[in-house]
Amino acid sequence: MKIAVVGTGYVGLVAGACFADTGNSVICVDSDPKKIDALKRGEIPIYEPGLDTLVERASAEGRIQFTTHTADAVRASEIIFMAVGTPPLPTGEPDLRYLKQATEEVAQAMTGYRLIVNKSTVPIGSHRVVADWMSPHTKHSFDVVSNPEFLKEGTAVDDFLKPDRVIIGTEKEEVYQKMAELYAPFVRQGNPVIWMDPVSAEMTKYACNSFLATRISFMNEMAALCDKVGGNIEAIRRGMGSDVRIGKHFLYAGVGYGGSCFPKDIQALLATGRREEIPLGVVAAAETANERQKKYMVEKIRGYFKGMLQGKVIALWGLAFKPNTDDMREAPAAVIIDELLRAGAIVRGFDPVAKETARVAIGDRITYCESAYDAIEGADALVLVTEWNEFRHPDFDRIKASLRHPVIFDGRNIYSPEELRRRGFSYFGVGRG
Ligand SMILES: NC(=O)c1ccc[n+]([C@@H]2O[C@H](COP(=O)([O-])OP(=O)(O)OC[C@H]3O[C@@H](n4cnc5c(N)ncnc54)[C@H](O)[C@@H]3O)[C@@H](O)[C@H]2O)c1
Repeated sequence: MKIAVVGTGYVGLVAGACFADTGNSVICVDSDPKKIDALKRGEIPIYEPGLDTLVERASAEGRIQFTTHTADAVRASEIIFMAVGTPPLPTGEPDLRYLKQATEEVAQAMTGYRLIVNKSTVPIGSHRVVADWMSPHTKHSFDVVSNPEFLKEGTAVDDFLKPDRVIIGTEKEEVYQKMAELYAPFVRQGNPVIWMDPVSAEMTKYACNSFLATRISFMNEMAALCDKVGGNIEAIRRGMGSDVRIGKHFLYAGVGYGGSCFPKDIQALLATGRREEIPLGVVAAAETANERQKKYMVEKIRGYFKGMLQGKVIALWGLAFKPNTDDMREAPAAVIIDELLRAGAIVRGFDPVAKETARVAIGDRITYCESAYDAIEGADALVLVTEWNEFRHPDFDRIKASLRHPVIFDGRNIYSPEELRRRGFSYFGVGRG
């Protein structure tokens, strides 16, 4: 099939590369010329494991192209995926200006019928809004289908190639059939392609993210209780996760969730609830608990140093919102850094891939180190913020020799408290008593 993907970010580039990998002809469009120029030179503008191989292969075989010209891509394609950003406004509602502009550009360029697939996460009812934006700009017919994306950054390629399910929101059977045909190579093992109405599809996306975020916040609250009354959240997680009614995913206590999806999608759902006057108390509580959680480690650091953080050098391992991505959107590290700086501390950070994106997000208020061990040299404490694999088995003797105080704040519970205490460290995890 001939496909255009408008918006070549974390979702659009992965979707485009995966559709090209299954033999389709794909044109990826982005309004950012720097991004497109980099892609034309064979450089991948984001960090996402496995993506470079897919893009390289598809480019070499001429199945993927990159352009800033929406019109060219629309003219050459029968299916147009919309994957532009929908960042939050101060009100919590998603900012739809990029989607509006992109869909108007698509409508103006249409030379006949087109299937418009909305992959951006958009407020409930947006399929109708998109159609209303397009109609004044084209005399040609089109359908708008809602096809929310569930990939996770860090494992995005794998998630896209082997999705748990694909959701197709449309009232029309022929549109569903076309989409099912496109996705067939990705669901050969029998994972479902679920057909539903567009409103349900749009809401499924928000419901999934809000539910997963709620699980994390629930565990973080249990962890806080453990820190007060004893008990170990890691044992409790294993005890809960082995219950098939609960399952083991998204039960990890830590420094709070971040990223481009959970915080924004929860805000958007809450905004819809407010507008419709439907109380969404569970979702609101998940959000409140998460805001508290991002400051939880700082409270522990403050407690250890008896409130005197002025001039203390604190080393952060990991800045990205999670491992295997360079994405800094809503990263808990940013809140931890703000709090530490406000208390007068000096912060040094190291992240294996997010140095440049962190510099954009955080600025020059902290020192960016070239290695994990540079960050801790002469520091007063180490805080593990993002659980990159390379931090899992560090040289603890070297850490102890480098730190002025042998103290580790483990924001992801990846170290053994017993081992660290045996090695002479003070250890603080999340909910480990
Ligand atoms: N990142 C994720 O993990 C993820 C997962 C599922 C769903 N989503 C949703 O997918 C959407 C895209 O997210 P993302 O993380 O890929 O965003 P992103 O910011 O990485 O990419 C969006 C891209 O759209 C481009 N763009 C903006 N206006 C444009 C226009 N008029 N024409 C062409 N390009 C334009 C931007 O330059 C940018 O490169 C959002 O709605 C998001 O909520 C994201």
